[in-house]
Amino acid sequence: MKDLLKLLDLSRGEILEILDTADFLKSEWKVSRRHDFPAGKVLAMIFAKNSTRTRVSFETGIFQLGGTGIFLSNADSQLGRGEPVQDTARVLSRYCDCIMVRTYSQDEVEKLAEYADVPVINALTDMYHPCQVLADLQTIREHKGSFDGLKICYIGDGNNMANSIIVGSLKLGMDITVACPDGYHPHRDVLKYAKSVKNTKFILTNSPEEAAKGADVIFTDVWASMGQEAEIEERKKAFAGYCVDSRIMSLANPGCMVQHCLPAHRGEEITAEVFEAHAQEIFDEAENRLHAQKAVMYLLLK
Ligand code: CP
Ligand code: NVA
Repeated sequence: MKDLLKLLDLSRGEILEILDTADFLKSEWKVSRRHDFPAGKVLAMIFAKNSTRTRVSFETGIFQLGGTGIFLSNADSQLGRGEPVQDTARVLSRYCDCIMVRTYSQDEVEKLAEYADVPVINALTDMYHPCQVLADLQTIREHKGSFDGLKICYIGDGNNMANSIIVGSLKLGMDITVACPDGYHPHRDVLKYAKSVKNTKFILTNSPEEAAKGADVIFTDVWASMGQEAEIEERKKAFAGYCVDSRIMSLANPGCMVQHCLPAHRGEEITAEVFEAHAQEIFDEAENRLHAQKAVMYLLLK
């Protein structure tokens, strides 16, 4: 693994290596609060969009690995004034050991990686959120013991989370059913990949009930992602009925987990009742952002 740009680039073995490393670093940190890792690594953290979890977990993560993070927002870096990503990549590569980027376009992240001499980590684009799904997979395995025979369900917008969950689930051999309204389907590249995968079942439906039936893990995410603020009202109409509520949960398998990348909009994609009933799993998922991203940095920088 040279960069982490999207899960499609990784093999099943590479994903499992990240998850095993994440489990190891999590337990090592909890026991000894130290890691055996070369000190002084510097992570540049580019944010063109807001963040709470991603910023804090990356900055804490590189610190716990003995390094430091440098926060660069569009508001105060030259990126916000239009400096080309190709130049930013080459400059940051002269100072830093790794670049993390959260932005709009996946192409921009791919271009950054093409021009950078150091590893690049995608910390969310409009198309993918690979770091989140690595944490989600770590959380599922922690709670369920293994991935064998699990059925994953995603209800909501065919957005960056849906795209990454589909790829992550299929790469690890789990069946996945996705319920999205017409017009809000996952990206065509992801659908093409999903159709090409043998031995695992992928279903795309517009019925949340069909998706939830027999599920072991139900995912959802906001109806309007960052950058889609102007579409909020139109989306509220399109997504009415795509809410993870107790009726949807009653269709799932006993012990079904709920995962939400957060922030959550209670009363829209999930009810407050379901959210609170599954808060332990959801905040374990948030915690695992730290451990999964430390694993990614560990493997990229060791
Ligand atoms: N889930 C997630 O990426 O959260 P932030 O937007 O707070 O980073
Ligand atoms: N789909 C959401 C995820 C936030 C972590 C967004 O892109 O805003």
